[in-house]
Amino acid sequence: MSRVTKLLINIAKLTSELRRKTRTMGYIIHRYSVFVVVTGFVLISMVSLIHCHRDTYALPRLSLPQRYNSPDAMSRRIDTHGCQSYGTTPYIEEIFVGRCWDYQYVYNDESCMVRDVKNCSELWQLFRSGFAYRDPCNVTGDLYKDFAEAAMHDVGVDKTMFWSGTYFAAHAYSALSQRLTTLEDTLTGYVAQQLIWCGQTDDPGINYMSCNERCYRSAEEAFWGVASTAFARQAKGEVFTLLNGSRPEGAFKNDSYFAKYELPNLDQGQVTMINIVVIHSLDTPATETCDTGSILDLKEIITQYGFRYTCTDDPK
Ligand SMILES: *[C@@H]1O[C@H](CO)[C@@H](O)[C@H](O)[C@H]1NC(C)=O
Ligand SMILES: *[C@@H]1O[C@H](CO)[C@@H](O)[C@H](O)[C@H]1NC(C)=O
Ligand SMILES: *[C@@H]1O[C@H](CO)[C@@H](O)[C@H](O)[C@H]1NC(C)=O
Ligand SMILES: *[C@@H]1O[C@H](CO)[C@@H](O)[C@H](O)[C@H]1NC(C)=O
Repeated sequence: MSRVTKLLINIAKLTSELRRKTRTMGYIIHRYSVFVVVTGFVLISMVSLIHCHRDTYALPRLSLPQRYNSPDAMSRRIDTHGCQSYGTTPYIEEIFVGRCWDYQYVYNDESCMVRDVKNCSELWQLFRSGFAYRDPCNVTGDLYKDFAEAAMHDVGVDKTMFWSGTYFAAHAYSALSQRLTTLEDTLTGYVAQQLIWCGQTDDPGINYMSCNERCYRSAEEAFWGVASTAFARQAKGEVFTLLNGSRPEGAFKNDSYFAKYELPNLDQGQVTMINIVVIHSLDTPATETCDTGSILDLKEIITQYGFRYTCTDDPK
């Protein structure tokens, strides 16, 4: 037999063998297809459950820090498995320390701060000691006082701007004009904004898996309350407060950070005027103006504290 014939015979044998095997396989697949599909489904579900259990079971939905109600920032909280994750922001130390140096040498390099450089590793240690290895449900502002005092710096005269219900407008305004400074434009706010964090008593002291929603809310307020207080205390000259006159629940809320931490901590010896600015959305009806609703309450409270004020609707 020639080589070619041998080869052809071999190929024919192989082919028939293959056909037989395929038929058997086909039979098996056919016979057990339901089993295979069900097993696959169960396996896939288990894997995604293990990956996503934090969202589905362990935790109620924890949205962004309440100071920013931004769906945009929310979408960033998707972890590497594609699940929504509500534990401490991954790499929080690197983000914090990186932002801190960024703030001092890039973002705010025109200020005089660089002459009085703050040690970012030290600030991180102070910040971290406020929650690491602590009961996440027992967080008070006192724990962050050292950090807030070490990180706060002067923002200058006539530059302080508070905001309430106008996060994006306030920051667009302060960024554009480079004239006014919000808490998020200070070192304290810049390093911490939009981060989520909570501690645990076990190693590593920080809970990256899940933050208890109920406790998280009060821990968040403890931190931002102290930060807002320190920010208000440094205010000098004229201050500005940007309020949302299209908000259904009113422009001035007595449970806002502005009402609870900023207004009461303004220094009568340093602040000469409170300029209220009420902005209205073009696409939603105005609910309040300078002369109506909760803004009248605000004017009254300002007078009681002994400050003078102006109020402007939608400045150009
Ligand atoms: C900054 O603080 C860290 C931690 O306290 C310390 O190890 C480091 O030497 C400090 N750096 C400077 C330049 O002071
Ligand atoms: C809460 O923490 C403080 C110290 O920060 C501690 O003195 C107090 O006993 C703690 N309370 C509870 C209920 O654990
Ligand atoms: C003011 O509040 C309204 C209603 O909640 C909202 O649609 C609008 O975006 C807010 N305006 C600003 C500037 O944040
Ligand atoms: C805020 O105002 C509401 C209604 O006007 C009032 O019931 C509540 O006690 C006030 N809260 C504070 C902290 O003043």
